[in-house]
Amino acid sequence: MSGERRPAAVTCTAPINIAVIKYWGKRNEELILPINSSLSVTLHQDQLKTTTSAAASRDFKEDRIWLNGREENINQPRLQSCLREIRRLARKRRSGSEEESTPCILSYRVHICSENNFPTAAGLASSAAGYACLVYTLATLYGVETELSEIARQGSGSACRSIYGGFVQWLMGERDDGKDSLAQQIAPESHWPELQVLVLVVSAERKPVGSTAGMQTSVETSPLLKHRAEAVVPDRVKEMCEAIRQRDFERFGQLTMKDSNQFHATCLDTFPPIFYLNDISRCIIHVVHLFNTYYGQTKVAYTFDAGPNAVIFCLEQTVDEFVSALRCCFPPESNGDMFLKGLPAGPAVLSKELKMAMDMEPRPGGIQYIIITKPGPGPQLVEDPSLHLLGKDGLPKHSA
Ligand code: DP6
Repeated sequence: MSGERRPAAVTCTAPINIAVIKYWGKRNEELILPINSSLSVTLHQDQLKTTTSAAASRDFKEDRIWLNGREENINQPRLQSCLREIRRLARKRRSGSEEESTPCILSYRVHICSENNFPTAAGLASSAAGYACLVYTLATLYGVETELSEIARQGSGSACRSIYGGFVQWLMGERDDGKDSLAQQIAPESHWPELQVLVLVVSAERKPVGSTAGMQTSVETSPLLKHRAEAVVPDRVKEMCEAIRQRDFERFGQLTMKDSNQFHATCLDTFPPIFYLNDISRCIIHVVHLFNTYYGQTKVAYTFDAGPNAVIFCLEQTVDEFVSALRCCFPPESNGDMFLKGLPAGPAVLSKELKMAMDMEPRPGGIQYIIITKPGPGPQLVEDPSLHLLGKDGLPKHSA
């Protein structure tokens, strides 16, 4: 390929987010409009991220996409919505501007290549990071800067929250066209520096019922979900915003656990019922409550999405001791060295009293590994061209 025929290419990364007030249920399937507002914490990309490269070239015959080294069907409706909306905005931005008469990459086809550095569909919100990254990367390629959370939402609801770092609210909105159903940052990642997040990977397998299908059945059959959306979440979102603003861990942790429990209660209230938690998930819940009861305050808090993995919030000063407690209750099996990933945790000696308070049958291998992370920033542009996932020929550098 000659110099000027090289594809225009951009690479970006985007974070996953974990909801502390859950989104579950749509009022409009096509536009992905939720039945309640939700609130999340964006996790740091040093530990968990999606990387996406997008290139446009007059040599490309069709739009194509590769996910984790495998080519996927680009004609899926949600992918098409994101591509169509970004191109619409790019066209709008160009019309009337000086660039209008110059050759435009907008008329070219695109190649997109995306990779996660964590297991896909393990209940680790891979679709959120994936769609946020896709939309941010295409927007950067075409020079679009507005409405990104609205477009990411049309890829996967929770993706709209991954467009921002720190603490993020997704306002459900009232309009039928979804123009007011978007995410907003309520505090940046620097707001609560002591807050840490432990991702406990219980199972890296694909979930039995995906979120999209699961929430659809819940909307159709669960009276508890209706009650939750109308009577519980509105006040809870306000209270959670307050707890975050005041860095009040006691309130933040209690609300986080109660909301996770209510979400899983709506799953049980769905007919036929959906079970995302397993035996180990329930043991983790038990361990958290034993730990908090021993201290007489909320020192650690759990939340679970549509899968058995737990996400634990705690303050920095609690990490070492709680990780030691987890090691006691879920002794690592073969991969002792690989048990902890991400930010460091030091050794901690558990007092005899705490050990007695945590008295339960150990579950060897119950937790495969723990990723220690913290709140982090929103999507980022990758400047270093050697990190692009597509080669100069517009094809993935690595295949599955
Ligand atoms: C349990 O955003 O994956 O993680 O909009 O159908 O793509 P779709 O669903 P998705 O649902 C996420 C559900 C959740 C809770 C949350 O993240 O708020």
